[in-house]
Amino acid sequence: MSIWQETHILLGVSGSVAAYKAAFLASRLTKEGARVTTVLTAAATRFVSPLTFQSLTAQPAYTDEALWGAEGHVLHVQLGRQADLMAVVPATAQTLSSLAHGRADNLLTLAALTLQGPLLLAPAMDAGMYEHPAVQANVETLRQRGAYFAGPTTGRMASGEHGLGRLLEPEELLGHIRYLLGRRGPLQGRRLLVTAGGTQEPIDPVRVITNKSSGKQGYALAQAALDMGAEVTLITTPTALAPPVGARLIHVRTAAEMRAAVLQACPQTDALLMAAAVADFTPARPAGHKIKKRDGLPHIDLAPAPDILAEVAALPDAQRPRVVIGFAAESRDLLANAAEKLRRKKLDLIVANDITAADAGFSVDTNRVTLLHADGRREPLPLMSKAQVAETVLARLLPLLSA
Ligand code: C5P
Repeated sequence: MSIWQETHILLGVSGSVAAYKAAFLASRLTKEGARVTTVLTAAATRFVSPLTFQSLTAQPAYTDEALWGAEGHVLHVQLGRQADLMAVVPATAQTLSSLAHGRADNLLTLAALTLQGPLLLAPAMDAGMYEHPAVQANVETLRQRGAYFAGPTTGRMASGEHGLGRLLEPEELLGHIRYLLGRRGPLQGRRLLVTAGGTQEPIDPVRVITNKSSGKQGYALAQAALDMGAEVTLITTPTALAPPVGARLIHVRTAAEMRAAVLQACPQTDALLMAAAVADFTPARPAGHKIKKRDGLPHIDLAPAPDILAEVAALPDAQRPRVVIGFAAESRDLLANAAEKLRRKKLDLIVANDITAADAGFSVDTNRVTLLHADGRREPLPLMSKAQVAETVLARLLPLLSA
């Protein structure tokens, strides 16, 4: 089940021109499957209409008028108690001040006082206001009380000025909300190391030997692990993908760089998910300068690349992650090859992937895999999204970690 299903977000919108981005966010959250109830301050309604939010979310969008309506006496309590998370987007200097001081002068701040779940604040303000000591003092108070700040960022603001105070983009805000929602998950406190992407082995300063890996399955694993509350380090080669919010990123290119990063992280890792497509061979002597065509066809000697999982398998127990999961992409004899790797690399689980199928493997968003367990069980999974494969793998990881 996705993290958004049956999740109730209370979206507080305060009065900044950036309020229009909250409408995009409300739309995105709704499309993901979350239930979004909106509360707008009086100033927010001067920039955007409650009807905008009501139409985008198919849920009520309240203003202070509702305080005096039929449900007025219970509404703020309901809003705060029912929400899994409250996100104030944008959070103006005024609203930050009210929240920091526990004021209850509008429906948004009242609801924040009855909130049981986490509070996410996405500040937006122009002209250096964010850096004013008075605002910073409020930010500090709220942070110490456990509020989570998403942004602001530096950039061009509505006034034309450039500075710190720009609201994050809706897609980034979605990532922060997702991160915060996952924090109480069953992998809370567990440190997961995920590798993703295809390594790039240099031939000369401009050319590399690489493979077709897109990194999608590895990124999906990192996201699913974050959704379940894990602390995630993602070792990644260059990809076109947006990294999941909350993952600690380590950028590498070659198998040797990935090896060094993995081995360094292993002693602090509870589970390693080795989804990267690591080179098996690398140019033995990369040229220092670009190989010129006029010199004729080059002869490129290859040498074995480090087998990272084999090295992890050879680590002393104290340095080895408790659980190690590998991936096998094969074009023939899939299960036999995967079973052999599972044994040789001392894995707890291997995810076997037939790359000849058009709807599975490289680049596409779907995958059809078989899970091979160390105890000999084989679990063929139907065609799924890579996100669902990731969720399934992590569901199998959970009992292995506590065993
Ligand atoms: O390349 P191969 O199919 O053997 O990969 C199986 C598993 O081993 C994968 O999880 C991959 O990340 C890992 N691997 C590795 N070092 C290599 C090659 C693969 O750790 N040099």
